[in-house]
Amino acid sequence: MKPETPRPVHLKDYRPPGYLIDKVDLDVCLDATRTRVRSRLAVRPNPDASGRRQALRLDGEHLELDEIKLDRKPLSKKDYNLTDTSLTLAKTPAAPFTLEIVTFVNPEANKALQGLYRTNDVYCTQCEAEGFRRITYFLDRPDALATYTVRIEADPREAPVLLSNGNLLERGTLAGGKRHYAVWRDPFPKPCYLFALVGGDLSPIASTFRTMSGRTVDLAIYVEHGKEERAAWAMDSLKRAMRWDEVRFGREYDLDVFNIVAVSDFNMGAMENKGLNVFNDRLILASPETATDTIFEAIESVVAHEYFHNWTGNRITCRDWFQLCLKEGLTVFRDQEFSGDERSATVQRILDVRRLKTHQFAEDAGPLAHPVRPETYIEINNFYTPTVYEKGAEVVRMLQTLLGRELFRSGMDLYFDRHDGEAATVEEFVRCFEDASGTDLTQFRLWYAQAGTPELVCALRYDKAKKRAELDVEQVLPATPGQAHKKPMHIPLKLGLLGANGHDVSLKLDSGEEPADGTLSVTKRKQTFRFVDVPSRPVPSLLRDFSAPVNVTIDLSDRDVELLMANDSDLFNRWQAANSFAMRTLVEIVGLLAKGKSASRGARYAKALGAAVLSDELEPAYRAELLKLPTQADIARVIGKNVDPALIHRAHKRLSGLIGRTLGAQLADLYAAMAEDGPFSPDATSAGRRALRNAALTLLTARASGPDLARLSKHYFKASNMTDRAQALFLLAAHGGKAGEQALADFHDRWKGDHVVIDAWFAAQAQSPLAGTLKRVEALTHHPLFALTAPNKVRALIGTFAAANPVQFNRPDGAGYAFIANHVLELDRLNPQIAARMLGAFRSWRALETGRRGQARKALQRVARAKNLSSDVQEIVSKMLEA
Ligand code: PHE
Ligand code: ZN
Repeated sequence: MKPETPRPVHLKDYRPPGYLIDKVDLDVCLDATRTRVRSRLAVRPNPDASGRRQALRLDGEHLELDEIKLDRKPLSKKDYNLTDTSLTLAKTPAAPFTLEIVTFVNPEANKALQGLYRTNDVYCTQCEAEGFRRITYFLDRPDALATYTVRIEADPREAPVLLSNGNLLERGTLAGGKRHYAVWRDPFPKPCYLFALVGGDLSPIASTFRTMSGRTVDLAIYVEHGKEERAAWAMDSLKRAMRWDEVRFGREYDLDVFNIVAVSDFNMGAMENKGLNVFNDRLILASPETATDTIFEAIESVVAHEYFHNWTGNRITCRDWFQLCLKEGLTVFRDQEFSGDERSATVQRILDVRRLKTHQFAEDAGPLAHPVRPETYIEINNFYTPTVYEKGAEVVRMLQTLLGRELFRSGMDLYFDRHDGEAATVEEFVRCFEDASGTDLTQFRLWYAQAGTPELVCALRYDKAKKRAELDVEQVLPATPGQAHKKPMHIPLKLGLLGANGHDVSLKLDSGEEPADGTLSVTKRKQTFRFVDVPSRPVPSLLRDFSAPVNVTIDLSDRDVELLMANDSDLFNRWQAANSFAMRTLVEIVGLLAKGKSASRGARYAKALGAAVLSDELEPAYRAELLKLPTQADIARVIGKNVDPALIHRAHKRLSGLIGRTLGAQLADLYAAMAEDGPFSPDATSAGRRALRNAALTLLTARASGPDLARLSKHYFKASNMTDRAQALFLLAAHGGKAGEQALADFHDRWKGDHVVIDAWFAAQAQSPLAGTLKRVEALTHHPLFALTAPNKVRALIGTFAAANPVQFNRPDGAGYAFIANHVLELDRLNPQIAARMLGAFRSWRALETGRRGQARKALQRVARAKNLSSDVQEIVSKMLEA
């Protein structure tokens, strides 16, 4: 299938385009199998491109070329060179000229979901990163900015709604009503990856927003007929996001309309196309009965994320794809700040750090590790990673921590001022902060270039006579693929020292300086910070608010940890102390189980946890986070080598059971106290109560007694909202037996008609740690509601099994690996992007114990040997197997 062997692209080879395209006129005649695209381009040689005039090479894939005209004159075959991926004109005029190209594409046959495709009879496009080349021949690169006018024509019965970027200019009917058309114009120059077009039979919910300067913007969210009410939360989120960006960053929306379309088949979560965001419908549709609080939260944050891209991504875009974090890391940072302001900042930070550690730290520790700004890639689609997104956001957050909020805002203002309308680089972004603050960020830039999670090895000494505390900090920078040796980085280390009473001691360095906001700058490989006037031996609270994406090690006694858990003024670190205590307990249990010893550990941790959770002045959402143990994947990452997922699973189960038994009465009280019988509200406070109640339920259930199981079944059948119902469904499916089957059958019957909600039914079965799970998952791939062409189904069933079921995916016989390998190969023929993502489930395979490692290698080698692999899968599998 793939035309040529994929070649790597390197950052150092960047050259500006030889030509500029100032204006694009598209005329698209929608047809399910033969859509005609007429493109008229205003082209001129780029005065900034160095050297002699180059040939004009346009990208294009899976296109049927019908005709080309240059300044209205038809070109013949000898005037251009056509390959599977390009159209090249050797000779072009020196003056500006017009190029007109007509191509045909087949949306129905497009299962890769890049370019123009059909989902549920709706025509829609996805162009990031390189999908526009599947619509027409073009300079498909983010630094080629043009204004677009788009005419769409279609059968009005099939596609009454016709949308594109920008503002609507005109619409009308043709052929006595048999056809109709709409013309859209986007006045803002944009790269083609932000182009979008939608045609279909959809229903809008509409609203308006008054901007800070008093303009009225028409808002609409288009969904399937009958689902309009389920878009209300997304609309509410959008308006709050628009307001927040005005208040926090001074950014106002710029067009007269903002449209969102929800589609059921989409490779990612959503896409920030200018004025026309396209969303995976699972991130738009929500009602109390159909969506969990986690989904409500995700909708709020993704709607905001895509909206925020209008300034960070669209008005200022990326020069090339190596700069992806310039828009993604920055926009994730912005959406995290938004969620923190809308909800609880501390709880939000805990959720964001959890996600970072689970996904990004794991990626950074394995064969797929890469810098936040990579220097080479084969397939850019493989770089929409936790490192670019989540670590990219942490790097921006560190800028804010180092400069302080005010100077950070000045740097952002300067960035918007200086680069509006441009395709910028990370380098230019960082320079704005240097210029706005007068700070030298040379060493800080290493965060963009060096991969791997730094470790801060810390030790604290106390001299009672001198009343001095000395903190030794050593940076250990682990080797990552292609980067054996690293330079020391600039790491903001926010900390506190707790006295015996649990209160903060004021921080004074021996230089007389008091670190601003308690933040030290660690810049050397080894460094000692000396604090004076410390009245007694303090307990250090390190990396408060998670001030840098690093691992910290320090030797603390159980008593020290208990002091932090009970008193730390930094609530994030209070949670961190509890989480670390749980983690070290779990690692100890795993060690004991490995030696065949009975593992009666954890009583002390359980008691400390009980005390911390009891505290009523802490908000329920926070207490719920305290009650959640580290995941099995997190334990595996911390153990780091010779990992035995079965032992980890046993240890996790033991500690959960122990906590359930130790805190039983208290948890039962919480379960009762957090019950609510009023109407459902998705707000953070109500969601927090449900989260705490469900966390208590989970631990109570871990005792596995008869009454516990009865409570769980009741929780499922009496649930008045999806948060409670889904939590119980997952627990019951994990338990199996009659109770499990009953709940699964009930859920299926209730939701078989809803393609969004039914995904929880697939996922609950895929996540069950029971021995029969693989067989069941295999059978479910033949279920009538499952389809390999639907990414959400693949993620719910196959993705959940591979990424969220460590015991069964890592079966010692290798059958889990073989199953995923088979599906990666099958998927690769349909949708390479999704296939490559599934393969990512193997990212930690080298840390496994020898038996499983051998099985995983076999599965990976089988994928590597297969013929006609996409460049997506090819790149991932070869990295996985590289030494
Ligand atoms: N740019 C999208 C985002 O907000 C992600 C995306 C990438 C969507 C590629 C589709 C294709 O984060
Ligand atoms: Zn994004």
